[in-house]
Order: sequence, then C-alpha cells, then structure tokens
Amino acid sequence: MRLAVFASGNGSNFQAIADSIIRDKYAELVILICDKECYAMERASKLDIPHYLLDKSKKRNEYEQDVLEVLKEHNVDFIALAGYMNIIGTTLLDAYENKIINIHPSLLPKYRGLHALERAFENQDTEIGITIHYVDKGIDTGKIIAQASIPNDGETLEKLEEKIHALEHKLYVKTLKGLLK
Ligand code: GRF
Repeated sequence: MRLAVFASGNGSNFQAIADSIIRDKYAELVILICDKECYAMERASKLDIPHYLLDKSKKRNEYEQDVLEVLKEHNVDFIALAGYMNIIGTTLLDAYENKIINIHPSLLPKYRGLHALERAFENQDTEIGITIHYVDKGIDTGKIIAQASIPNDGETLEKLEEKIHALEHKLYVKTLKGLLK
C-alpha cells in the first residue's frame, strides 16, 4: 500500500510513522502533504521523502483538486492525517472513501475539535486518551478504529502532553500496520 501523510505542524507522528515504515517495511510512505510551512517538512526532507506545500488560499474544492492531483501522481492508496489542521472536503472524501484516517488527542466522542487535551485536563478527567478514526464529513465524528488512554494522576499538562504524544506514536504505528499490511 502506498501511504501519504498530511501534516501542518511539528510532525512527530509523521516521524514515528516514517521510522516504523523504514524499519518494518509494511507499506510505502510516498509523500507528505502540508498546507503550511512546518517542521514536518524539514523532517521529510531529512528522510528524503517527497513533500508538497500546497496553497490553500483558494476555495476548498480547488485546493483539494490540487492535492488530489499530487496523490494521483504518486499512486497513493491511503492517507493518514497527523496534525493536519484542515477539514477534509468532499473532493478528497469521495476519491478516498474509507481510506483516510486521523489521530485525535481525546477519547472520542468526548472533546471533538480544537484543544481537546487541554479541555480534558481542565475538566480533571481521570483518564486522558487518544483516538484513531476514519475521516468523514464531520469534525472528528468518523468511525473509531482504536483508542488508548493513560491515567491523569496529578501531573502537569506539559508532562501529560509528552506522554500522550508517545502514546499516539505507538498507537498510530500499530493501527497503520494492521490496516496496511
Ligand atoms: C497530535 O496531538 C494529534 O493528535 C493532533 O495533532 C497533534 C500533532 O502532533 N491531531 P505532531 O505534529 O504529529 O507532533
């Protein structure tokens, strides 16, 4: 399977996915797509993975047509969103039905949308977790594939964030291995 990762930020999940694919060869990581200059692009560059920065200052369907063109050029079969700060529209959803997944830092259906981890922390939830789900038209509403959590036992938000990221990297790799092999 030929995988594309979409990212908008630090790209630590992209890095974890790339490292695991290089190590275990369960898929081909063919491209990284970004909608803004971000550290994920630098990571791709170091790994010699083709990366594209696409201009999203146009209508969503036009932007997604550009994305689609790049995906087709690289014969992409499957897409993993990893900190990609954009809603996926019908152009991509129709072209990749049930083939786009996302990682979200909450135990969905709780805390859809932005600042999910902060909200769980502020509410003093006893379990803090993450979800990997299929992407549909809604925001973080698609079918859940996998979840994992850690106890929230009085640590700082920074420490929890660190742990949540480590958990994300593990669960994303494990899930992709299962789906793509
Ligand atoms: C992760 O916390 C993920 O759950 C969310 O965005 C963050 C991306 O982190 N969707 P990174 O860019 O992979 O480091």
